[in-house]
Amino acid sequence: MKNYDLVRHVKGESKFVDDILTPEGCLHAYVLYSQIAHGDIKSVNIDDALQMEGVEGIFTAKDIPGENQIGGIIQDEELLASCKVDFIGQPIAIVVAKTVALAKEASKKIIVDIEELTPVIDPRVAFEKGELIMSPRVFSLGDVEANWNKCALIVEGTVESGGQEHLYLETQGAFACPVEGGGVKIVSSTQSPTTVQKTAAKVLGLKMHLIEVDVLRLGGGFGGKEDQASQWAAMAAMAALKLNKPVKLILPRQDDLRMTGKRHPYSSDYKMGLNKEGKIVNYEVTFYQNAGASADLSPAILDRTLFHCTNSYFVPNVKATACSCKTNLPPNTAFRGFGGPQGMFVIEAAIYKAAEKLGIDPCFIQEKNLLAEGDEFSYGQKAEQCMATASWESAISKFNLPHLKKEIDEFNAASKIVKKGIALMPICFGISFTTTFLNQASALVHVYSDGSVGVSTGAIEMGQGVNMKIRQVVASVFSIKIDRIKNETTNTTRNANTSATAASSGADLNGKAAQLACNNILNRLKDAAAKYLSLENSDLIEIKDEVIYYENKPTRLLWNELISSAYMQRVSLSSHAYYAPPGIYFDKDKAKGKPFAYHVYGTAIIQVAVDCLKGVYEIESVKIVHDFGKSINKAIDRSQTEGAVMQGIGWMTMEELKYNENGRLLTDALSTYKVPDIYFAPKEFEVEFLDNPNDSLAVFNSKAIGEPPFMYGIGAYFAIMNAMKSYKPEKNFEIISPMTPERLLLSLYN
Ligand code: MTE
Ligand code: MOS
Repeated sequence: MKNYDLVRHVKGESKFVDDILTPEGCLHAYVLYSQIAHGDIKSVNIDDALQMEGVEGIFTAKDIPGENQIGGIIQDEELLASCKVDFIGQPIAIVVAKTVALAKEASKKIIVDIEELTPVIDPRVAFEKGELIMSPRVFSLGDVEANWNKCALIVEGTVESGGQEHLYLETQGAFACPVEGGGVKIVSSTQSPTTVQKTAAKVLGLKMHLIEVDVLRLGGGFGGKEDQASQWAAMAAMAALKLNKPVKLILPRQDDLRMTGKRHPYSSDYKMGLNKEGKIVNYEVTFYQNAGASADLSPAILDRTLFHCTNSYFVPNVKATACSCKTNLPPNTAFRGFGGPQGMFVIEAAIYKAAEKLGIDPCFIQEKNLLAEGDEFSYGQKAEQCMATASWESAISKFNLPHLKKEIDEFNAASKIVKKGIALMPICFGISFTTTFLNQASALVHVYSDGSVGVSTGAIEMGQGVNMKIRQVVASVFSIKIDRIKNETTNTTRNANTSATAASSGADLNGKAAQLACNNILNRLKDAAAKYLSLENSDLIEIKDEVIYYENKPTRLLWNELISSAYMQRVSLSSHAYYAPPGIYFDKDKAKGKPFAYHVYGTAIIQVAVDCLKGVYEIESVKIVHDFGKSINKAIDRSQTEGAVMQGIGWMTMEELKYNENGRLLTDALSTYKVPDIYFAPKEFEVEFLDNPNDSLAVFNSKAIGEPPFMYGIGAYFAIMNAMKSYKPEKNFEIISPMTPERLLLSLYN
């Protein structure tokens, strides 16, 4: 099953926001932003800029007709800075002109007077000052205090993990067009059309029904367009309504890098206690999340750090505290894994340090502590259909780990400068939005009288193949050819109150809604077929490969004739359906519940070669056994796995965001921010499908795949550490990621 969208991508036929044919008179907007990370705005003078030929309007905070508020979870963020600025890149004015170049030129003539204050960049400094987004959150299980004296070994330390730029190929942007009745139609590059609609309505002081949001597809989102696509859409909509002309706003790459939030950097303290058999008895951890200047999605991301702080291990006594710290950086936001990777990295670091103390391979401790069926997570849910040990054992035997290790030992004994290293990385990731009410979706299916089908859902296609999966669901329920089906754009007038396509649950939630809608139509079609064929029992009717069967025997009726007959019989060929997964809940106050529909498991073995003189490394192989459930599209699932792993490895190794002490992003271009390319891709990449067909909350038992494999990337960090250790066995390295070549050399020789 080829993903049709990819064919269009390769041919260059796919359309993105900036490809929309704009109507005559379309204007272009450019956003002027703060060059200062913290300060009070004394004045903003737009007079000279407004005089420029071709400039049609300039809007600042005081021009906002509704509320100057865009915070999704906490109302703490202005669309346009009114009296203070909190980060470099914070929008101050929207300049609208006949061309982009003119708008940018005019923005340089705006004089902004800001009285500078000292910025805070470090989350621990923010914590000391009491600058928190909300009060700290705690998850606990058992009794940590009572058990330290039962531990044979206790390790303590700190762990740093860096941020990460989403680097979606299509930058943030929107196109807005005024429509009759004072409303506006917005085409946006967003993972969450409803958030765009709500935000625009609030900013413009309009009812939601006056705002229509339409999304064809995104050139990547990776979480960066879950919340942070809304402001650009709201700005374009405001300019469009003010000037009564269509307005397009597309962020230039460098502005996008500077203005938008990223994965949260974390600084964490851990303390782990183990008994003499190597079982983890106690785990205490405190996370300091660098949230940036406002809440954005930080509280939810912080929660997922806690949910995944013990990864795929059973720990009987856990105390995990998480603090969201307010700093003068752009508000950090969702990024594949949603805080999970930051949590998992710390427990892997603690295990690594415990193993180092014992002089053993970390995988002995990892293996001893893998989750078993029925084990309880710190948030109260139990591990069900647990694949932790199955995937671990399967990876070891399928890829012959003892042999790989022996080869590495032999290589390292003979090689002085280049050292090889290996690490195992088990993962366990919960599927569902942990904010329970967000787990809902809807779909609208039309069968047209010629037998073709259109399906629209709340899902956003952003390269992950959700449209193809939904199309497969429709094809499967009707048992018709896939090319009869078309995915319509995601549009707020067809599916309202949708959740973001996020939390890896896009296909599960929207696929199930589409399945329900198709079933509604199918039932009507069966009745229509029975009538047409003068048969008694419509329950005995089935469609198989576009042929109508009765009692398992083909009839003369085919799909096309059935559809036209149903139409003539005045049977509705359309259905709208709603889906919400049953049985999930979470009590935030008690921090207990069953937040996840199911968990996804797997194990990766990652092997690297490190040049200990130059500091550079190669990823030699990535070998994975992953629990896909019963995959409905192996090509998509494999590519999601590969892409996520590479993104995870990038986060752990070469992708480094650097801010100076004034809060200025220094890595604001692709010359300074490095991402993995094809040459850095593993020389060998094997993905084995572990069959686990039992999860009925996954669409057609095909488990969510968008985020879980990201966390395999953590294995690359420890594989590099493993290689470094064989170069300098006497050294104990600090755990600071990303492990750039620079850091690697500093660690070896400092
Ligand atoms: N794959 C591609 N190609 N582009 C993306 O932007 N986003 C990831 C993942 N895979 C992304 C991607 C993220 S962060 C999530 S949450 C899921 O896709 C969302 O889609 P799904 O719910 O359909 O898996
Ligand atoms: Mo993904 S970070 O949930 O958009």
